[in-house]
Amino acid sequence: MLLMKWIHIIAISLCFPVLSFAQNMAPKSVGFEIMTNRQTGNCMACHDLPGVSGLASNFAPPLQGVATKWNAIELTQWVTDARKINPNTLMPPFGTTQGLTKVISDRAVLSPGEILQVVETLISWR
Ligand code: HEC
Repeated sequence: MLLMKWIHIIAISLCFPVLSFAQNMAPKSVGFEIMTNRQTGNCMACHDLPGVSGLASNFAPPLQGVATKWNAIELTQWVTDARKINPNTLMPPFGTTQGLTKVISDRAVLSPGEILQVVETLISWR
């Protein structure tokens, strides 16, 4: 009887760290991969992203909850060319090279399809 009780307690205590780990994990998506890849979005260089800890930065506002501030069209504008929303922004344009002087190629950092994936993830952060 006592042994059963101990097995129970151990089993329950083993479950808790697993549960809290699962809660801390942000749902992974193609958009999330683009945002956290240094070669593509690299958003976490400036933003705190849900589910990314350690290398998080507070240079820019955290992206947790952005979908409560902006709709899909506005979020697309932020990612494509933030200068259209705030001319003095420090956020680089990801969807255009227009007005940039030190570009290596005339290709934007992200394609329209990639921006769509990023916005799909942003819109889920409410
Ligand atoms: C070089 C730093 C930098 C990088 C990299 C960057 N941003 Fe930003 N971003 C900013 C800053 C700073 C702001 C705050 C608004 C401003 O200054 O215009 C901002 C604002 C935003 C906003 C509006 C947030 C709000 O709370 O209103 C969104 C959405 C956003 N960024 C998305 C992204 C995404 C997605 C990426 C990656 C693809 C990214 N940013 C990469 C600097 C950055």
